[in-house]
Amino acid sequence: MSKTLMAAAPDTATDFLPLEGTDYVEFYVGNAKQAAHFYKTAFGFQSLAYSGPETGVKDRVSYVIRQNKLTFVLTTPLRSGNPMADHIYKHGDGVKVLALRVQDATNAWEETTKRGGKSYMEPTRLKDDHGEVVLSGIHTYGETIHLFVERKNYTGAFMPGYKEWKTVYNPTDTGLQYVDHCVGNVGWGQMNKWVSFYEEVLGFRNILSFDDNDISTEYSALMSKVMSNGNGFVKFPINEPAEGRKKSQVEEYLDFYDGEGCQHVALATNNIVETVTTLRDRGVEFLTIPTSYYDELLDRVGHIDEDLQPLKELGILVDRDDEGYLLQIFTRPVEDRPTLFFEIIQRKGAKSFGKGNFKALFEAIEREQELRGNL
Ligand code: FE2
Repeated sequence: MSKTLMAAAPDTATDFLPLEGTDYVEFYVGNAKQAAHFYKTAFGFQSLAYSGPETGVKDRVSYVIRQNKLTFVLTTPLRSGNPMADHIYKHGDGVKVLALRVQDATNAWEETTKRGGKSYMEPTRLKDDHGEVVLSGIHTYGETIHLFVERKNYTGAFMPGYKEWKTVYNPTDTGLQYVDHCVGNVGWGQMNKWVSFYEEVLGFRNILSFDDNDISTEYSALMSKVMSNGNGFVKFPINEPAEGRKKSQVEEYLDFYDGEGCQHVALATNNIVETVTTLRDRGVEFLTIPTSYYDELLDRVGHIDEDLQPLKELGILVDRDDEGYLLQIFTRPVEDRPTLFFEIIQRKGAKSFGKGNFKALFEAIEREQELRGNL
């Protein structure tokens, strides 16, 4: 029995935390120079900005890369024995900051901390010749952070402290456009706590829920609630493991990330067949789906604009809801720990998350869990 629930659209008129979207995603990684090369080469990001000893920052190096409205920051510490190095030792490479664009970072900090948000950074003004950026931030699940970024008075490449990063090596982009959603994995019994956090501290609404009857295969189970901000630009699904015959994929993540954290970042494209073909040619590894998935696909989802054959060759999944359909595919983890991965998604009207694909997808994840001996 499915208990999926679609709530009414959130009310934007009373939004105390108006968000303009995702500003950037920052990853703490063991070797930012090599990670930047990987995301440029494999995913088609472009060099944008750099900070490190040459720009007066002595303890770390950050490379900023961009593709359309997607900005990633890859940061590595230069020495051991500090919180950033400890973070990487404990979690491996992963998402540290989900940065959100606001008009007023001071107001965002005041509104969220007075509602119980734990401060990570008080409103801080950064200035250089190109203007001013104001940052503030609060903690969310695990050691993950939400920074509020106010950059309306800034014209530089990224923000003060960074210089423009120009390179000779500039691979073409792959059609990735923007962050569609970011999923957090939280511990046993913790999902509703974090749902309340997003409701009360950030003014988000729970727009969609999946229980373990929706998301259960023979072995693996999880529960998920999708949180959305007022205008729908920022969506954070929250996953919690559920009891199954064997270990939940969320539990495997929690074991190897050594705590709660960001499970996947979904990147939108306007042409998933072209994007995934290019990504695959450049070495991005995707989960594979048995070709039997496609035998009855059109009976399930009805007419789609795309030819079935390339979807089948690439392993792209399709699902339909009341408003349209979506196409999606998931990469394998992008580091050796079975933790962070990416989703590539193309929406054609659908605003949901591919519930009809959960079984096929989770069976694909379980096959890989089995190979790792973690099922
Ligand atoms: Fe997703």
